[in-house]
Amino acid sequence: MTLFRLDASIRTEGSTSRALGDIVETEWSAVHAGAEVTRRHVGTDPVPADSWADAVAASATPESERTAAQVAAVALAAELTDELAGADALLFAVPLYNFGVSQHFKSYVDLVLTDPRMAPGAVPATVGKPAVLVTVQGGNYSAGTPREGWDHATAWMRRILEDVWQLDLEVVTREFTLVGVNPALDQFTELADELRVRAEEQAAQHGRTLAAMPKAA
Ligand SMILES: Cc1cc2nc3c(=O)[nH]c(=O)nc-3n(C[C@H](O)[C@H](O)[C@H](O)COP(=O)(O)O)c2cc1C
Repeated sequence: MTLFRLDASIRTEGSTSRALGDIVETEWSAVHAGAEVTRRHVGTDPVPADSWADAVAASATPESERTAAQVAAVALAAELTDELAGADALLFAVPLYNFGVSQHFKSYVDLVLTDPRMAPGAVPATVGKPAVLVTVQGGNYSAGTPREGWDHATAWMRRILEDVWQLDLEVVTREFTLVGVNPALDQFTELADELRVRAEEQAAQHGRTLAAMPKAA
């Protein structure tokens, strides 16, 4: 059994998405002791920003005429896709940045989508695999809040992971991670604690579900 784990936080110390991802991973590893975990840290070791354009250009260029950059981009897309195709379970931990999807996660997804095994419209190499998306937000964009609708990341990530990659997806969201960091949010301390506990419980529960799910055919 293999777990593929991607982290998109730009920090390694104090990262709440990594902490929630750790909870999921710990539950998965408790069931699959000693099993391999393949990791991608796209926030701290990004996919090169020009790889996607090179891979797209390569797809319209005969193999014998491709530039070195195009060959490298196609090879990287294949390597990333091999990681997804070779995993039995998938875990993505992606924070909200600037009201949208992490640029590093977007670059990663864009490059993966250039591989013929993952192209929109094809039956993806990930079809039916169990997966968990952990996402964290400094603020709170849930229904009825003043900034409801400002989270432009989660819907896109769901669209890719659930509909394009056809994963069997569970999502854990932790809001208000900036409470305790930004004094303007001090009034939400109690609520933020409740949201943290709830997210941690959900992460543990989804980690157990991820571990229990049968391998996709
Ligand atoms: C450059 C930057 C931009 C951010 N933009 C937003 C934002 O638009 N909305 C939000 O709710 N939080 C935003 N945050 C807060 C992060 O989502 C929050 O700190 C989260 O916990 C980061 O993930 P991590 O704890 O795993 O590092 C931003 C943080 C940084 C560093």
